[in-house]
Amino acid sequence: MEGRIREGWGTKAGFILAAVGSAVGLGNMWRFPYAAADRGGAAFVVLYIFMVFAVGVPVMLAEFSVGRRARLSPIGALRNVVGPSWAPLGHLYVATGCLILAYYSVIAGWTMRYTLEALLTGFGGTPSEYFDHSSTGLGALMYHIVFMGITISIVVGGVKGGIERASLVLMPLLFVLIVGLAIWAAFQTGAGEGYRFYLQPDPGKLLSADTLSGAAGQAFFSLSLGMGAMLTYSSYLGRQENLPGSAATISVSDFAVAFFAGLVVFPVIFAFNLQDEIGASSLGTLFISLPTAFLKMGAAGRLVGLIFFLALFVGALTSAISLLEVVTSSLIDNWSLDRGRAALGAGITILLIGVPCAYSLDILGLYDKIAGEFLLVVGGFVLCLLVGWRVKDPLSEVRRGFAAEGLLKGWLWTVRLVVPAILLVVIYQVGKAALELIGTTLF
Ligand code: TRP
Repeated sequence: MEGRIREGWGTKAGFILAAVGSAVGLGNMWRFPYAAADRGGAAFVVLYIFMVFAVGVPVMLAEFSVGRRARLSPIGALRNVVGPSWAPLGHLYVATGCLILAYYSVIAGWTMRYTLEALLTGFGGTPSEYFDHSSTGLGALMYHIVFMGITISIVVGGVKGGIERASLVLMPLLFVLIVGLAIWAAFQTGAGEGYRFYLQPDPGKLLSADTLSGAAGQAFFSLSLGMGAMLTYSSYLGRQENLPGSAATISVSDFAVAFFAGLVVFPVIFAFNLQDEIGASSLGTLFISLPTAFLKMGAAGRLVGLIFFLALFVGALTSAISLLEVVTSSLIDNWSLDRGRAALGAGITILLIGVPCAYSLDILGLYDKIAGEFLLVVGGFVLCLLVGWRVKDPLSEVRRGFAAEGLLKGWLWTVRLVVPAILLVVIYQVGKAALELIGTTLF
């Protein structure tokens, strides 16, 4: 740690871009529509908005405040800023990151496969059948291995070069594409039913603890919270940058992408009657509905589909990089490994942990429930209590570059009381659901 010069972001834009790159990924395009389809449609969307802005933004700021103060990856940061007895929370973060990347890479592998399919043969046959036979098995495993290989090689080489440039072009392109697709979807007959499902909440479901906890889990996953990714990224940030402003920019961008993804997926599902096909495996919501749309577009659909899945692949890659980067930088900071060995060792371990997910969607869903929902929410809950009650003068770090004292106080009390109270309900609910799912999946 000492004596080594810590690399920093060249510019503030570099940090925002990397953080948005971490946040925007499969969580927005794949997980958000699938979670909304599973848990109450529009009611889920309403609660999701609440979770992003009332819970997600304060938690992100809490991560920033620890990361920038310590200028270390999570384990060391918690040790220095909170106290040595809290380092195990950092270990939990590393474990959570490994579990998430393990199945994330399998899904990212699907995006590679779909990209190649669009390029080489075009989308043929029935999308739901294609998904069923391509999402698991040896092929899925191969793509998982290739995707992890790419992620590892980028983390070994440092993030600066090609990937930054590629995402600079492809991320805005992805956004333009989904806005375009949303407009196209609006003109399909039967789209109205999709909008009702997506945008007209059923009041009864607004009070459902299951919908609420699903929305919380989705917010943590999509904003990359609860496992030290944002903490690590902010540790490279300049002392004077405005942390609340950054948290708001990142969250609004991330939300916008997810919201437009829903404006594509739901009208398409209802216009082309895909409810039943998707009902069988909601994990495939995105991968069934979009190819259906691309097929309907005829020749142009193949090109649009190619660009879409390519951009989605890049989005997944920038997110995967952030996950592997947390694990790698922790190994570097705490066990003084060199970057190459750390990334390779961690990457291969994660690859192996992900193998069962390439063979069973149920197991993939289970990993998602345990790591992508439960552990993230627990990680954010504990961090808020620590920042709120244990860290000395938590406002000093956030105050720099941000002068609205009233808002700062509001943030502190939100982190002390409001967020922990909400997350307690969520932890109970998600914990229960995860235990049940373990029961039904494994026995
Ligand atoms: N947020 C990313 C997505 O939406 C996934 C991700 C990257 C992530 N880093 C993370 C999720 C850290 C949780 C924690 O695709």
